[in-house]
Amino acid sequence: MVVFQVSRVQTKPFDGQKPGTSGLRKKVKVFTQPHYLHNFVQSTFYALGDDKVRGATLVVSGDGRYFSKDAIQIIIKMAAANGVRRIWVGQNGLLSTPAVSAVIRERVAADGSKANGAFILTASHNPGGPHEDFGIKYNMENGGPAPESVTDKIYQNTTTIKEYLIAEGLPDVDISTVGVTTFSGPEGQFDVDVFDSTSEYVKLMKSIFDFGSIQKLLASPNFTFCYDALHGVAGVYAKRIFVEELGAKESSLLNCVPKEDFGGGHPDPNLTYAKELVARMGLGKTNESDPPEFGAAADGDADRNMVLGKRFFVTPSDSVAIIAANAVEAIPYFSGGLKGVARSMPTSAALDVVAKHLNLKFFEVPTGWKFFGNLMDAGMCSVCGEESFGTGSDHIREKDGIWAVLAWLSILAYKNKDNLGGGKLVTVEDIVRQHWAKYGRHYYTRYDYENVDAGGAKDLMAHLVKLQSSLSEVNGIIKGIRPDVSNVVNADEFEYKDPVDGSISKHQGIRYLFEDGSRLVFRLSGTGSEGATIRVYIEQYEKDPSKTGRDSQDALAPLVEVAIKLSKMAEFTGRSAPTVIT
Ligand code: G6P
Ligand code: ZN
Repeated sequence: MVVFQVSRVQTKPFDGQKPGTSGLRKKVKVFTQPHYLHNFVQSTFYALGDDKVRGATLVVSGDGRYFSKDAIQIIIKMAAANGVRRIWVGQNGLLSTPAVSAVIRERVAADGSKANGAFILTASHNPGGPHEDFGIKYNMENGGPAPESVTDKIYQNTTTIKEYLIAEGLPDVDISTVGVTTFSGPEGQFDVDVFDSTSEYVKLMKSIFDFGSIQKLLASPNFTFCYDALHGVAGVYAKRIFVEELGAKESSLLNCVPKEDFGGGHPDPNLTYAKELVARMGLGKTNESDPPEFGAAADGDADRNMVLGKRFFVTPSDSVAIIAANAVEAIPYFSGGLKGVARSMPTSAALDVVAKHLNLKFFEVPTGWKFFGNLMDAGMCSVCGEESFGTGSDHIREKDGIWAVLAWLSILAYKNKDNLGGGKLVTVEDIVRQHWAKYGRHYYTRYDYENVDAGGAKDLMAHLVKLQSSLSEVNGIIKGIRPDVSNVVNADEFEYKDPVDGSISKHQGIRYLFEDGSRLVFRLSGTGSEGATIRVYIEQYEKDPSKTGRDSQDALAPLVEVAIKLSKMAEFTGRSAPTVIT
């Protein structure tokens, strides 16, 4: 057995190691500076405290982006030196973010131990490669992202760190082969357990959904399916679940081989970046003659999803509302009823209407999945979602891209149980239109201004906050821009008191609420790695079933104009158009 020693390495703090919405994200060249990753990892161990680290079982893996393999070896050596008992690594260092959450909650070591937490190596939907982004975040023993109390401590530690611990004499571990390697350190045995990236996750999915009914749907000659992993880690799960378990054709998978640089693309499942899928589904510029009935995509770490029908886009805000409305009938896991539902503040109010109709507990939380986690741990929420292409449930404590696809396939299988084998199907578009007819439609769009000057972005937000002190002035300005837009009746910065732990989160987005139920929301992104990204969320509710079929950009044009002019977007950012519209 290889024996290692502990070495203490002198170091100095780096500026800017403050974790954002989902961990620390920086360019690879920042992470590869000597000691940079080490400082952050050691600061995390200090934040967790000796009793949570010594003897612990920790998961280390991620979406496979560039620098992951080096980072895994560094973290293994530092964990060994800090007295961790064992490290679990997905084969080739690959685990989707939802699979990490599932592994923390479900996997059991031979001696009965479960994982205490995980380092997830991902920058989610940001591009990867030597000149792009890397990221690291810590998840706790409930399987969810570390709360602010922990990430604040980590950050504090990064500002004072003087040394870190690393194992000397511990060779790089082969993470390409499943199996356990055992080492011996000053505190005893240390194991690195490389395991199949999919087994726990697949087992969990099978316990939630009726795979038999989805199989029948996928086998039906009138149903066609397509999935794009954008070269992220979702490909590993898509192959295993959609093809091997559910019988989809191999040719229905696009970009399902994980790549360190995501094939040079931007692994974000939206209408701008998932170009190939969008074209195949008949939503691109070229005229696809017979698009599949159902298409979906995931982001780099497979927690996000985009759902498409034939020539039809489902907004994430509608998606969660539709899943919630159909979950009890279509998904066995929910057959006993929903405990409650939740959405992030900028997500449209489509879910609110379903919650009201079904008499469900409902929560509006700030952006960031951790807020849902608290509600779920307290048994208050079953299904939740965000406009940012995140949908999920209390089966884990992360959003879950593959789960969302299985949820949609379950709903399609349920609605079509009598139509399989031929004939006319109830399509994705039918399901959405029927939903609008019943609950009304929330026209919705988001404008992103990426990588703008941080100072300009701050000034824009300050301008919007200042305006809120006089609604009559705001309404005067709006009438000057678009007299056909209704009055603002309320304007504030969203603040949230967590009903479980009582913690208060302030400044969670600037809201303008209109008399007719429309909303404008402005937020700075918490997930970028350079400059600032301004997000503008635009929403309008239409109850009249005869008016729910309009093109959404047309329907929202007046509000969009108000948003851009009221915020003085061009003046503050120099941008005449957004980078991305979703
Ligand atoms: C991550 C989080 C999501 C959140 C999103 C917001 O994906 O997991 O919960 O909605 O970031 O990103 P933003 O860039 O808008 O801060
Ligand atoms: Zn992600």
